[in-house]
This record gives sequence, structure tokens and C-alpha cells, in this order.
Amino acid sequence: MVNRKSKIVTSLCIFALVLTLLAPINAGAATTGEPDSAVSNSASFSTDTIYQIVTDRFFDGNPSNNPSGDIYDPSNPRKYHGGDWDGITQKINDGYLTGMGITAIWISSPVENITSIDPSNNSASYHGYWGRDFYRPNEYFGSASDFMEMVNTAHENNIKIIIDFAPNHTSTAEYGDMVFPENGNLYRNGTLISGFKNDTNNIFNHESWTDFSTWENCVYHSMYGLADLNQMNGTVDSYLKDAIDMWLDYGVDGIRVDAVKHMPMGWQSNWLSDIYEEHQTFVFGEWFNGSTANDSDMTGFANESGISLLEFRLANAIRNTLGNGTMDMQELYSVMADRELSYKEINDQVTFVDNHDMSRFMTLANGNARALENAYVIMMTSSGIPTIYYGSEQYATGGSDPENRGDMPSFNTTTTAYQVISKLAALRKANAALAYGTTKERWMNDDVLVYERTFGNSTVLVAVNRNTKQGYDITGALTALPDGQYDDVLSNLLGGGTLTVTGGAIGSYYLGAGQAAVWQCDRTDTVPIIGNIDPLVGIAGNVVTISGSGFGSATGTVRFGTKAAQVVSWSDSLVQVMIPTISAGLYDITVTTSLGSSTANYDEFKVLTGSQTAVRFIAKDAFTEYGQNIYLLGNCLELGNWDTSKAIGPFFNATDSIAAYPDWFFDVSVPEGVDIEYKFIKKDEAGNVIWEGGSNHTYTTPTGTTGEVSVYFYN
Ligand code: NOJ
Ligand code: NOJ
Ligand code: CA
Repeated sequence: MVNRKSKIVTSLCIFALVLTLLAPINAGAATTGEPDSAVSNSASFSTDTIYQIVTDRFFDGNPSNNPSGDIYDPSNPRKYHGGDWDGITQKINDGYLTGMGITAIWISSPVENITSIDPSNNSASYHGYWGRDFYRPNEYFGSASDFMEMVNTAHENNIKIIIDFAPNHTSTAEYGDMVFPENGNLYRNGTLISGFKNDTNNIFNHESWTDFSTWENCVYHSMYGLADLNQMNGTVDSYLKDAIDMWLDYGVDGIRVDAVKHMPMGWQSNWLSDIYEEHQTFVFGEWFNGSTANDSDMTGFANESGISLLEFRLANAIRNTLGNGTMDMQELYSVMADRELSYKEINDQVTFVDNHDMSRFMTLANGNARALENAYVIMMTSSGIPTIYYGSEQYATGGSDPENRGDMPSFNTTTTAYQVISKLAALRKANAALAYGTTKERWMNDDVLVYERTFGNSTVLVAVNRNTKQGYDITGALTALPDGQYDDVLSNLLGGGTLTVTGGAIGSYYLGAGQAAVWQCDRTDTVPIIGNIDPLVGIAGNVVTISGSGFGSATGTVRFGTKAAQVVSWSDSLVQVMIPTISAGLYDITVTTSLGSSTANYDEFKVLTGSQTAVRFIAKDAFTEYGQNIYLLGNCLELGNWDTSKAIGPFFNATDSIAAYPDWFFDVSVPEGVDIEYKFIKKDEAGNVIWEGGSNHTYTTPTGTTGEVSVYFYN
């Protein structure tokens, strides 16, 4: 890795110089007061409200960078319309985003895309998902300096920047007999690395289109003919690591990773651990899911890879309950409750009610504006980081793609939805119960849901009635709010009113037709409580961010197990420390205030063995009985330390170009440059294990590139 990094130093020093001149660097400098109200915390976004922008469709701040020719046509929803980074900068400066309380924006992938028309659907790459050169900016969105100006303007306005990033593929290269003018070409800063056809160095995977039938099939086959990058190829691996470093060095705070279900999880963990060695950044991925049920591959991915996920489950449940009425509030609540159980870190998952891949909420709800407003109330007060899809706060409509990606209809700051968002975004910053709190139902029927979030001494109580024709009496519902009178945080915008609480129950309260209200109490915590630790995995020396409350203003102590960590910054709600030099393993993290009160919260912080490399393990001739799968075990934490309950797998066995039964394979992140010992096991659903015979296999892992080992399974 040292080698790989030094190669990019020269190209980066120009950017670094510009950054030094222009940018308030977004580093974890020591802070006092309320660092969380600024952009100093790029590791945790739990107090933030994200605004998702399709860059081409938001605001054209500079018509001179618009494409010419066939790919530009503002009247065609599949062509470029002219929106750009200058436009976003202007909308930050004119107060549209800050007025809504937005503290993070997620923009389209900024990398250079194909400049030709995709003949399979006569579309231009206005959406940014057809990358060609990940080291160059998409010129139709602006120049590198326009990008940096947008980042700096955002930071000056306490807004973080998230880029969409699609390391899964370049552009479409296969669709029947069609000839694609750009052949899925991948360039590195202008130099061609490979095209999809004549790909002599295996830069791409060359399986048929995925049929989406299994996770394995999604990973190694192409999605609709998009030239599928082979991340386990050393050239592709360093290409993608260096590319994301470059964008993070521009000051980017977060990454939305496209199509995480379609890339090897081990490679993604490896990419992430490389990122975390240099940057504190929040990473969340898109695991597309059309259902409200848990998918254990999906939540397993979030829990194991360290990449948070977009919460399709909650989105689908809110859409079904408030949008088209196919679910009721009690069913919605059971999804809310279940999602809290399926994720290790529910507060780090990203929520939404619509996006660029589904119909706009207003279209789904048949124009019922109150349904949209109520959907925002539920999303913004539920666990997870809420995302507003650009234009939906203006009640934009549109069915499926590309109709859901229309031009911004207006920038009206007086819409009810805009006002509701602004009140709740402010509350998310002010009251830690929304960022980190537990969730408890307090009253419900098919139409009404009353629930409460609580964190330490802070509480937020939410009541929503989706029925626009009928009201309900919710008098007597229980609450953790202390005795007193509470005004509606929404300033009665959705028909709410003042609430009286006596003895842990709410006084007379009628929740009228279609009404919603939010009441809150935000009391100081005198003992420390941990909300989040971000990330949850790392290497000695990496910086880790602990957010929560009651840490005190004077510097205290943080321990990993019994070992104290060096403190980088300390405030009452945010502490940054360096992972101490300790052996790989899972650790309790304890925060102790300067006055001596302490809390242990997370008991599974994973300290890795060291810098990581991605290795493909292949077990040949491993014949199994029905129900058995092949797993990997070895003598380091990353390989489960010989503990069969932590074995890596189940392995894949159905990809012809890599390995197919009786051969099995899996891509794994392991420590680089070390001698490891490993063995394969056969394991069934019940946990019965058959060990591979003979002595352990041995392998020296590579440094600065990927590896592959292939051995016969020893029966
Ligand atoms: C998911 C994105 O959100 C979608 O818009 C895109 O077309 C595909 N991934 C492929 O990049
Ligand atoms: C009935 C509601 O369904 C339930 O959610 C609530 O807890 C009780 N009423 C008491 O208010
Ligand atoms: Ca433009």
C-alpha cells in the first residue's frame, strides 16, 4: 500500500496546494462547544439531514459548460439539461438549502462519464452512472475548481458533501447486437486502461447478464450489460482506491456507493479499510430491495462490511402506509421495530421516502400533499439519517425513471413540506434523541401511530394520523416526557397543538384528521452516553469518532478494553480518538469524563490485524453433501481465529470464469504482507462442521495489490 499511495502523491500535491489556499480543511481538529453543528464530524451523519440532488436536474448555474450536440436537450428527460456544481453553489449561497435545515447534500457521481448516447435506450449519461475516467470531473457538471468551490461553500455553510460513486461498472457495453461507441472503456486520467471487448488483462468480468437469482450471480455478472469491473484485479483495485482518495482529498465528506450488492463484500471491506486509514468519512451503499421484509444478506452486509445501507425497507413501508395505503400503521410500526433489531447500528442507516429509482412520493400518493408531509414527519423522527429527494419538498411528481428526475419545479421556501423539513432538521441537530434514541410505540391503530425516541434525558414524542377524514382521541397515551406543557415543534403546521403531560401520561388530546405533531424535551446529560462510534472497525492509528452526550467539556479518557487511546478532540457531544496499538480483536469502548463517570457502550469494536489486502481463496474439488457449504478459517482475526462460528463464507460455487462446483471461491479482506495459515471447513445450516484434513495451508499475503490462492480441498 505504501507503494500505491506514493504513486499518487505528485498528482495530488497540486490539489493539496489548491486546498491549502482555498479550503477550510475538514479535518478532525480539536474543537470546543458544539462541533456537531458544524462539518467537523465527517465520520458520523446521525444528526444530519441529507438532500439528494441529481446534479443535472437541480440548477444550471453556468450555461457555458452545457454539452452541445445530441446529448443535450432540456426537453428530453434522457438527455443533459445543464444543471451543475455552480448551480448547487448558488443555491447554497442564496439560502435555499440552509433555510430547509439541510446539513449534507448527496450529489450525482462527479466523475467523467461517456459523452456518447447509449443506443440501448437512447439516453445520455446525465445521471452520472456511466463512468469512464474516475480521475476527471464530469465537464458538464463543471471543472475541478468548480467542484472545490462547491465543497468549500458547502463547508462554510455547515453542509457536508456526499458524492455518489459507482465502482461496480463503467458504461453499458453489451445489449444484443448493438454496438456501443465507447465499449465500456475505462481511462485513468486520460490513458486508456481497457475496453470491455479485447479486455486482455481481465479488467472486467465477462459473465452473462445477471439474472439476480443469487448474491453470487449479482456480484460476478453484469447488471444490464454495464461493463462489470473486476475489483479483484490488482489494476482495478488500486485504480478505485486512488480514485476515491482523490475525491476525498478534494474535501468530500461522505460516499454513497452504487450497487453494493453487485460487488464482492470482501473487496468492499478492503476498499473501506484503505479509505479509513487516510480519511474520516461516512460510507453508505445502495442494496436495492423492493420489499419490507428483512433480507439477511442485506443486513448481514451492513453489519459485516462496515458500509451503511440505504433503508429500502423503511422507505417501502412508509410508501405503502402513507402513499398507497397497502399497509396500515401497525404494520409500519412492526417494520420500524424489526429494522432496529436487524442492524447493529440502526442510527447509521440512511432513510428516504423516494429517490431517483422509484416514483416520486406525490405520484404514489395520488397528489395527497398531507401524506407527503406526514411521511416526512415519520422519516425525520425515525432512527436513521433522513434524505430528502430534491424537488419532493416542492411536491414534484413523476413516475418511474426518468420521469422521477425532472427539473427542479421551483425554489419556493414557503411550502409546508419545506417548513416541516426545516423544523425537523433543526430538531435533529438539537435533540440527540432523534440521532441516537431508542424507539417505543405509545399508541396506535390502523391510522394512527404515536411513538417516542429517547436518549439519556432527551425525548421526542411523535403523533401522526394518516386518515384525512377521521380524527382520534389519544388521551392517556404514556410518555417519557416530564410533567409540563409542550408546544408542537412543527408550529402547528400540520394541525398539531400544545400537549400537557402529567404523571407520565398525556392529557386530553384529540389528533384530528390528517394531523401530525412533534413534542420534545432536551435536557442535559450529566453522565456520558454513547450514541455512535464511527467507524466500527479500524487499524491502530486510525481516528475514530464517538458521538453522544454528557462527555463533559474537559478532556476525559477513552479506553479500548483496558488500553487508553490518544484523544484527538473532545467536546460534550463529540470525541475523537486514535485506535491504540493493541492486538487484533473485539473491544469494549469506555468513555470516562474528566470527573470520573464512565460508560461502556459498544462491545464489538473490531481492531484489525493491520493494513489489509483483498485475496481470492479458491478451494478445489471440495465435494459436499446437500446442505453443506464451504467456509474458510485461519489464524488471524480476519479469518475467524479458527473459531468455526466465525468462519468466512458460505463460499460461492457457480461462476464459470472463477470457480464452479466442486470448486468454491470467496473474496476476503486479510492483513497484507503477513504469513497466514488457513483451512477450509464444510459446515451445514445446523452448524455441524467437518474440518479439512492434513496440515494447515500457508500463504504470504501480498502488499499493495490483490492476491489469489487456489488449493485442493484435503479430504
Ligand atoms: C443504482 C442507481 O441508483 C441507478 O440509478 C443506476 O442506474 C444503477 N444503480 C446503475 O448504476
Ligand atoms: C391502544 C393502542 O393500540 C396502543 O398502542 C396503546 O398503547 C394503548 N391504546 C394505550 O394507549
Ligand atoms: Ca450548466
